[in-house]
Amino acid sequence: MRKITFMLLGCLFFSLTLKAQRKEILLEENWKFAKGEQAEAMRTDFDDRKWETVTVPHDWAIFGPFDRSNDLQEVAVTQNFEKVATVKTGRTGGLPYVGIGWYRTAFDAPADKQATLVFDGAMSEARVYVNGQEACFWPFGYNSFHCDVTSLLNADGKNNILAVRLENKPQSSRWYPGAGLYRNVRLVTTEKLHVPVWGTQLTTPHVSDEYASVRLLTSIANDEGRDIRIVTEIISPDGAVVATKDNTRKINHGKPFEQNFLVNAPRLWSPETPYLYKAVSKIYADGKLADEYTTRFGIRSIEIVADKGFFLNGKHRKFQGVCNHHDLGPLGAAVNVAALRRQLTLLKDMGCDAVRTSHNMPAPELVQLCDEMGFMMMLEPFDEWDIAKCKNGYHRYFGEWAERDMVNMLRQYRNNPSVVMWSVGNEVPTQCSPEGYKVASFLQDICHREDPTRPVTCGMDQVTCVLKNGFAAMIDVPGFNYRTHRYLEAYEKLPQNIVLGSETSSTVSSRGVYKFPVEKRGDAKYEDHQSSGYDLEHCSWSNVPDEDFALADDYPWTIGQFVWTGFDYLGEPSPYDTDAWPSHSSLFGIIDLASLPKDRYYLYRSLWNKSVNTLHVLPHWTWPGREGENTPVFVYTNYPSAELFVNGKSFGKQHKLTAEESKALQGKDALALQRRYRLMWMDVPYEPGEVKVVAYDAAGKPVEEKVIRTAGKPHHLEVVADRNRLKADGKDLAYITVRVVDKDGNLCPADSRMVNFSVKGAGRYRAAANGDATSLDLFHLPKMPAFSGQLTAIVQASVQPGEIIFEAKAKGLKSGKLILQTEE
Ligand code: GAL
Repeated sequence: MRKITFMLLGCLFFSLTLKAQRKEILLEENWKFAKGEQAEAMRTDFDDRKWETVTVPHDWAIFGPFDRSNDLQEVAVTQNFEKVATVKTGRTGGLPYVGIGWYRTAFDAPADKQATLVFDGAMSEARVYVNGQEACFWPFGYNSFHCDVTSLLNADGKNNILAVRLENKPQSSRWYPGAGLYRNVRLVTTEKLHVPVWGTQLTTPHVSDEYASVRLLTSIANDEGRDIRIVTEIISPDGAVVATKDNTRKINHGKPFEQNFLVNAPRLWSPETPYLYKAVSKIYADGKLADEYTTRFGIRSIEIVADKGFFLNGKHRKFQGVCNHHDLGPLGAAVNVAALRRQLTLLKDMGCDAVRTSHNMPAPELVQLCDEMGFMMMLEPFDEWDIAKCKNGYHRYFGEWAERDMVNMLRQYRNNPSVVMWSVGNEVPTQCSPEGYKVASFLQDICHREDPTRPVTCGMDQVTCVLKNGFAAMIDVPGFNYRTHRYLEAYEKLPQNIVLGSETSSTVSSRGVYKFPVEKRGDAKYEDHQSSGYDLEHCSWSNVPDEDFALADDYPWTIGQFVWTGFDYLGEPSPYDTDAWPSHSSLFGIIDLASLPKDRYYLYRSLWNKSVNTLHVLPHWTWPGREGENTPVFVYTNYPSAELFVNGKSFGKQHKLTAEESKALQGKDALALQRRYRLMWMDVPYEPGEVKVVAYDAAGKPVEEKVIRTAGKPHHLEVVADRNRLKADGKDLAYITVRVVDKDGNLCPADSRMVNFSVKGAGRYRAAANGDATSLDLFHLPKMPAFSGQLTAIVQASVQPGEIIFEAKAKGLKSGKLILQTEE
């Protein structure tokens, strides 16, 4: 009997001491929102009943309407060689992001605990009030920040009123920044003694196939000189405890608590093997469990060797990266994990292995997904430092806030294995000021201080200045934006003896639009405000992809590239940014605003994704009125050669040229370089019917065929979802591609009729996009015209599991219908 009592007591004690002291909740539902200044809206007795009820993340500006007059900017973009100021339309998407917005909600927090609010990002100039009192201010809209609100809580911890005032100044951005509480807001409650926000630093000082050494530094707040005991378990990717340490010490003059571990036969993190470990730490004081903190990490090594390049886990590789802005096209800036995952899934299939978050701190969900799905990341906080690019840009805050902004970013992401490099800035005008290198050095030093394990770069575009004034020489990794013709010179002049393409290409194209004659052109403009899908058009400062491929192939000291951009984004509609309204989104993307790949996607895929075959033919073959006219055919493929047939007639075989063969053609053929990477038949008279491409392997054996046909009359809508099973969590998304096709399923590539959507059952219509930068149709309304015969509708699961019935209807066509399942 005594024995049983003892055991019972033991269980009770066990469950009490192991109770989770730390709680984190997302503040998502039941926010009230109003646009414009609201006097005294921080007060607890303020009446917000008339305000709109919204869910956070929320982007107030994505609902439009688009308007030429939204954030008109009269400016000379000196980065683009402009000397005279002109009116820029659509620079920030033509969306109403400027102005003030207020959010209010209420939350409960245990009164005897430590309470911290964490904002993953708030656009912008956030003033946070709790129970009528200002809790904190954070100006930079992209950064995560936190405020300790313990002392502001109501005595019983109940019904605390949280109010947030945000303000976006006009002319504060070069692209669409979004507006509002567009990222998550969390409430973290802990004991008084706790691990503060981003309070651990985990490094892997030794990495080999035999063993890894893991070093964990844990900061403790409010230790009050007591003995602290930390028990940490290292958990392997399959859930086994592979190392443990149990240490007791005093916190030494504010220094974090250090523990070191050996992990035998570690499973190394890489884009191809994104293995993740966890360090789970239990923190005790006075014999009681005070906090439990989990640090997720990966074991991997990074190294940059002069003249040799970049090494991950001792293996040489070049970045096959893309730059992305943060918006999610038709969803605006409001973060959504399913939307991010969709983007990364498309990029993975393209063979992309790296992402540059340009030119801002990312959402934490993106970094976590990159850890899990296997992407290397370059995180870049700033587009300007102390010298302005935008009248009301970050330069207003740089002096006072730069270090705090850097520190938050570095501490938040220094344990994420996906992050392999920091970039301290993008094309900052400070590059050319004589003392500019000092500012660069100030920022680089902060990186080294907070994270001695990663190299630092900076996207430089003023090559002449930075080679002369010491700026490029003092950055760990010199990163150049465009200016491919100056890489060799930079390599030879700079002490680092490596060059990163921190931003490359900026080729412009519109999905499914082809212009004739087919020529390589800079700054080509057309009346329809589109760019050609033959992937030969670029801006005055930029280039087409082949140049970047050649630099990677020909020079060991190039360490790879980040293409501008993976996805089209809202704003910056170059070359249609100078009073060429309507034009609200970029043409730079490899993938359009509707998440539909452009032809270029397959060009990158043919070189980057080594595990699949690519055989892609362009243009489409439905050209009524072009009969007999020259209509070149391009093939993007990993196969070395192919033969083209039109209606059975051969146009001969083409093979990819070697570097030498291509060089020999230079001066004679304007597309000599392209012939290394693309198969091109430049003289093909159009006749309706069938285009067939037969691909041959290196031994000359026919191995794959691709056929495209002239479409007949539009007949029905084909609807295909990226996923048929969704999570019933109120957030998960399906991306449904809607195509106008003839009776045999051939795409009708010129169709632009209006498509209407209905969504019934366990989900709702969320948004649609067609990738047409000139379209002013609002994303959130359940209708959208097709563009080049296609569009994307996005459907969101509700919290009730069940069936979602989606239907797309258009005049004169048979409707398309599909059913999705949602589950808990
Ligand atoms: C770069 C700049 C990017 C974007 C791009 C367009 O110079 O860094 O933010 O503007 O040009 O080509």
